[in-house]
Amino acid sequence: MRDKSGIECLKRAIFLYGAPASGKSTLGKALAERLGLGFVDLDERIVAEAGMSIPEIFKTRGEAAFRDIESKALKEVVSGIIPRLPTSNSTLAVVSLGGGTLLRDENRALCEENGTVFCIDTPSDDELARRIGAAPGSRPLGDKAKERAAHYASFPNRVAAFFDAQSSLVVVGRGIAPAILAGRNVVADETVARLWAGRLGISPFAIIPSGEEHKTPVAVAKLWRAFSERGLGRKDTVVALGGGVTGDLTGFAAATWMRGISWINVPTTLLSMVDASTGGKTGCDLPDGKNLAGAFHFPKLVVIDTDFLETLSPKLISDGRAEMIKHEAIGGKGAGVRSRNRPLRVGATLGEATEPSGASAEESGVSAKEIAANLMVKVGIVREDPLETLGRRILLNCGHTVAHAIEKATGYRVSHGEAVAIGCVEEAKIAVRRGLAPASWPEEFAARFAAANLPTSLPGGFSLDELVPLMRGDKKRDGGAVTFALPCGWGDVRGVKIDLSKESL
Ligand SMILES: NC(=O)c1ccc[n+]([C@@H]2O[C@H](COP(=O)([O-])OP(=O)(O)OC[C@H]3O[C@@H](n4cnc5c(N)ncnc54)[C@H](O)[C@@H]3O)[C@@H](O)[C@H]2O)c1
Ligand SMILES: [Zn+2]
Repeated sequence: MRDKSGIECLKRAIFLYGAPASGKSTLGKALAERLGLGFVDLDERIVAEAGMSIPEIFKTRGEAAFRDIESKALKEVVSGIIPRLPTSNSTLAVVSLGGGTLLRDENRALCEENGTVFCIDTPSDDELARRIGAAPGSRPLGDKAKERAAHYASFPNRVAAFFDAQSSLVVVGRGIAPAILAGRNVVADETVARLWAGRLGISPFAIIPSGEEHKTPVAVAKLWRAFSERGLGRKDTVVALGGGVTGDLTGFAAATWMRGISWINVPTTLLSMVDASTGGKTGCDLPDGKNLAGAFHFPKLVVIDTDFLETLSPKLISDGRAEMIKHEAIGGKGAGVRSRNRPLRVGATLGEATEPSGASAEESGVSAKEIAANLMVKVGIVREDPLETLGRRILLNCGHTVAHAIEKATGYRVSHGEAVAIGCVEEAKIAVRRGLAPASWPEEFAARFAAANLPTSLPGGFSLDELVPLMRGDKKRDGGAVTFALPCGWGDVRGVKIDLSKESL
């Protein structure tokens, strides 16, 4: 569209929409803060102007009059945002709308022309009741939300869940990445840039060659160089767009650039969505072992957009499934997999993950809801032990001591996800040999990985004993001892210290 001066103007605002109590204001405020943008709450503005609450306006003047006031306020907000910036395509503000603002077609058109509408999925009745302090089982606003279900479902860009993960705001949805990326300093994976940059309307300032073999100090140094050429300073933010390799490298470069600048993570593989994107671990591999150089540096925002799954091969989907099954081993069978009735609640502090309304599975067979639920297993543990000092976070390393040795031994020909599947099964066998798990467990565990098209036995030519020297190089070591997170059953992963210089596996 064109602004008043006739200059072509691009989409400028993120409008948050959804049923009453879906979290529009909470998310709006948090998102604006993380993006360094202005924030407007339309309802608050109306209340301030009218000098009375919205129910009072409804009561004294009627719904039609309220809708007129609301439309006028929306026009003022939009015209306040748009003329400010004629030259760039950056997103300029976050606006939280009222629960029925876009029922009027003219309001919907205004928002869609001037920005992107993110519609937050409607929470379940129980969740809604909990949020507004009503009795469980009551339907405080649920009927209204249900009447409008088709209206809310007609918005293509969805937020299925949002929560706080140890100083990272995590937003999970569909079609939400473009508005987040607009006008930002993006570092992208080479393949992702080729497949997505045009569609997203972005030009990354740094490209990371695809593949684990590039997760090296050389790549980090190249990023520092790019940061320098871009003139990035302490107050700047970089955005990582890619899989776990891009996130780990960009996060590490951000952690070390000028002693630490902010970063935003936009994961594009299933594996990075459910695992690598969240938890603050950043780093690169060294010839001596995987992830040996690194830092804890939490991204201020993680945006998980399931649209990126569209271009993933079945093999890359399977890689992600490996970490999802690992989370099930930690959180208990069924933790973080599709289940219609289980509310997604793992002590979220910002806004609870909510039940998506449409719940249609993505092409890949993985929905935003499933990703959010699975990720919550990791987030729950990271919240308890953010810097891996209390012995809890080590559980997330389930299967990984063997996995990292396999990756290293095969020169990363075996992908991280495949190595995790094999590593989990091998470590389950170690658990059996130590009397920590029933003999049937490895086979049961292996069947779960096999069903996701993942390998479950060591690659030809390798025995577990041959991998031991590589495990001793793992960073979870303490002298000759390595702490394994041994899977012993569903919901039963145990930290076990094994002295590899004295004991056999
Ligand atoms: N920091 C953490 O907490 C953490 C946790 C788990 C794993 N990791 C790390 O993550 C890495 C593995 O992550 P990964 O599997 O995402 O690897 P990756 O980043 O190498 O991506 C895998 C492949 O997918 C391609 N790709 C990415 N997005 C795509 C898309 N949307 N469409 C098509 N192709 C796409 C990439 O180009 C690459 O070839 C490992 O280095 C692992 O150590 C880190
Ligand atoms: Zn992993």
